[in-house]
Amino acid sequence: MSDLLTTARYGDPEARLGVLTDTLRLQLARRSVRRFTGRDVTADELTALVAAAQSAPTSSNLQAWSVVAVRDPDRRARLAALAGNQAFIAQAPLFLVWIADLDRARRLARRAGTAVEAADYLESTVLTFVDAALAAQNAVLAAESLGLGSVFVGGVRNHPEEIAAELRLPPHTVAAFGLAVGTPDPDEPAGVKPRLPQAAVLHHEVYRADEADAHIPAYDARLAAYNERYGLAGGWSDRVLARLRGPESMAGRHRLREILERLGLPSH
Ligand SMILES: Cc1cc2nc3c(=O)[nH]c(=O)nc-3n(C[C@H](O)[C@H](O)[C@H](O)COP(=O)(O)O)c2cc1C
Repeated sequence: MSDLLTTARYGDPEARLGVLTDTLRLQLARRSVRRFTGRDVTADELTALVAAAQSAPTSSNLQAWSVVAVRDPDRRARLAALAGNQAFIAQAPLFLVWIADLDRARRLARRAGTAVEAADYLESTVLTFVDAALAAQNAVLAAESLGLGSVFVGGVRNHPEEIAAELRLPPHTVAAFGLAVGTPDPDEPAGVKPRLPQAAVLHHEVYRADEADAHIPAYDARLAAYNERYGLAGGWSDRVLARLRGPESMAGRHRLREILERLGLPSH
């Protein structure tokens, strides 16, 4: 079966799937959108995105996340500045800030007069971030199905305390990431960004690092070709190494542990 979605996803003319559904088509064709038309996201669309998010699995049904929908242009501009001066946050009609939320459970415990010490452990912090991520990605796919586009914004972790103040977050919560949502501008110079070959990420039964990594050079060439098409330089390996070189490449996020502690997520 000729399968343009799969070949684009891998940047590999030989890539094929043996099965293909409408859901898979949406997933294969998704890309981050950073340019939006002036059309608003309707209240019904927002409700549908949140319903999709709430349909995601959630650890022990704790539902340990919240989301703040920001439409106010001034607030979006302030959030854009705090999140690394990313202009598309101010341009998108809707900015969803996904909150890792351990405060709802604490409020519950306070009202019940019970202990909530497990919330202070790293496991709970991981749990709330995982819950928020699963929910948000469900919203991403729902947005795609409605003809909307989106991009995640980890930049909200550059200044978590200032973001918390801007959104009046209670203690024991932190903005995990943002999601800018709107109608994609069809003229944005971007495409489906190829991913690593499956052989680099899929192991059978046990992990075999050397065999997996042997597929990286081919991917570097494919991603370099993709980047060149959109006026960017370099392959994948270079960018990974630059992104992870040291704390100076983290836009302030190397302080996250101490900030989490101050925000009331001590993560023991
Ligand atoms: C948790 C998370 C945070 C991200 N933060 C940003 C961001 O701050 N700015 C940005 O432009 N893209 C951000 N992205 C988008 C990634 O750069 C993008 O998903 C990746 O380059 C792959 O491209 P694609 O989504 O078009 O396939 C983020 C993605 C994730 C999952």
